Amino acid sequence: MLKTKDFLDEKDKRLRLISKEVELPLTKEDQKLIDQMIKYLHDSQIEELAEKYDLRPGMGLSAIQLGVQKRFFVVVHEYEEGKFDTYVLVNPRIISNSVEKIYVEEGEGCLSVNRPVDGIVPRYARVTMEGYDREGNKIQVRAREELAICFQHELDHLNGILFIDHIDKKNPYKGKDQMRAI
Ligand code: NI
Repeated sequence: MLKTKDFLDEKDKRLRLISKEVELPLTKEDQKLIDQMIKYLHDSQIEELAEKYDLRPGMGLSAIQLGVQKRFFVVVHEYEEGKFDTYVLVNPRIISNSVEKIYVEEGEGCLSVNRPVDGIVPRYARVTMEGYDREGNKIQVRAREELAICFQHELDHLNGILFIDHIDKKNPYKGKDQMRAI
C-alpha cells in the first residue's frame, strides 16, 4: 500500500527528470504500480480512509513522483459525490486544446509539494489527450475544467515540470483578467 511518505518531495532532483517512453505492453510490475497508484488516489479522496491511513488527498499521480522515470500517470476524478472515474495514461500527449485558459482560484495542489502556494497556473480549459491504457490499448480522452487541469499538471510531471514553475515570481496573479477562475 502506498503512503504519503512514498512520494518524492519538490526538492528531490528526480522530479526534474524527463520521463522515458514506456515500451508496450506494460510489464506486470508497472501494472502493479498503476494499481497501487489508483488505490492511493481513490482512498485518499474518501475522508474516513484518508484519516485512517493518514493519506494526503490527491486526484493525480505520475510515476516519477515515486521515483519511476516512465511516462505514465493516473487520475482518479470524483465527478459526483462518492463517484469516481479512473484514467490511466501511458505515453500521453495533447492532440488538441482550447484557446480558452483557466486556473484554479484556490491554487493547484500536488502530492510532491507539501505547502500551500498562491498564484495563477494558466491551463487550457479543454484538452484531448492520446495515449495508451493499462492494457496497452490506444486511447483518446477528452477532458474539461478541473479534469483538464489535472491532466496538464500530470503531463508536466513527465517533463520534469512542477506547477509552481508556472507561477510568475514577481506577480503571482499576473494575467488574472485574461483567464477564467474555476
Ligand atoms: Ni503533482
